[in-house]
Amino acid sequence: MLQKIQLEALEKIMQCQNNTQLNEIKVLYLGKKGPLQEVMQQLKTLSVEEKKEVGKKVNELKSLLESTIETKRIQLNEIALQQQLENEKIDLTLEADYYEQGNLHPLIKIQTELEDIFIAMGYDVAKIGEVELDLYNFERANIPHDHPARDMQDTFYIDDEKLLRTHTTAVQMRYLEEHANNLPIQVVCPGKVYRRDDDDATHSHQFMQIEGLVVKENVKMSDLKGTLLLMAQKMFGENQKIRFRPSYFQFTEPSVEVDVSCPFCGGKGCNVCKQTGWIEILGAGMVHPKVLEMAGIDSTKYSGFAFGAGIDRIAMLRYGVEDIRHFFTNDIRFLKSFNRFD
Ligand code: DAH
Repeated sequence: MLQKIQLEALEKIMQCQNNTQLNEIKVLYLGKKGPLQEVMQQLKTLSVEEKKEVGKKVNELKSLLESTIETKRIQLNEIALQQQLENEKIDLTLEADYYEQGNLHPLIKIQTELEDIFIAMGYDVAKIGEVELDLYNFERANIPHDHPARDMQDTFYIDDEKLLRTHTTAVQMRYLEEHANNLPIQVVCPGKVYRRDDDDATHSHQFMQIEGLVVKENVKMSDLKGTLLLMAQKMFGENQKIRFRPSYFQFTEPSVEVDVSCPFCGGKGCNVCKQTGWIEILGAGMVHPKVLEMAGIDSTKYSGFAFGAGIDRIAMLRYGVEDIRHFFTNDIRFLKSFNRFD
């Protein structure tokens, strides 16, 4: 009888596929209603000697089944773990996805740097659209309809009134009008400008400028010079010098063109600066009283300085780029070479 139970139970334990089945078998053979319990019930009918012998055998069989079940449980757990590991396997040999990292366009880098220099000096930054009214691009800048300067700045007209701005001075004129009753003004206006130039190494029909404007009481030419010297030194290094040359713009009086000492030869003279030691980077001057008056500002009380610098020109000098067209043709090899500049 016990022999039969043993064979049957061991067989069933071996066939178990998982822990649930194993638990069922355990209850079936070792539970209160199991066959071993039944045998124990029948012990009553046996003699003392027989009781001892059968009782001992039943206990031996119980512990045999218990230990076999536990061994089987360990095996099943091990198999389950292996299966789980197999299912969740990660193939570390797979090639990772590769995302190419971009960088800022060189002109945007220079623009941001210039903005930061002026923000640190307490300037606002104004940016408005590239389609402008003739009124702000020319009229308010003291360049009347029949003025020959309009030929100089060959313009992309959209209609009789609208055009693609030819200089960021247009933003200056809008800002003056908007803040006429809210002085002082201290602002820079960076952005794209357009002229009908034939493109070559130093000209592009699209380029970038940054305009500067300060209007308050007692602004002097020396304030302009100090400001531009600081800008040049921040952009090209502490030893930079600048010089003012007399010039003419309709919207400033007096007007100057501003040179920086050549960053390539340090002012000694080289091919880039055509042996002069100087390179022109911007136009500037004291805001013409007529310009202030047209915007509604009392020119007897307030004065101002203004400047307009070529961002492309500054970028060419900073990065040693010889052809302005590179900035706009967007050859990926050219753009990638700026990864190394912070
Ligand atoms: N608008 C001039 C240009 O595009 C540059 C300029 C000169 C701007 C003198 C100014 C200035 O604000 O005061 O050539």
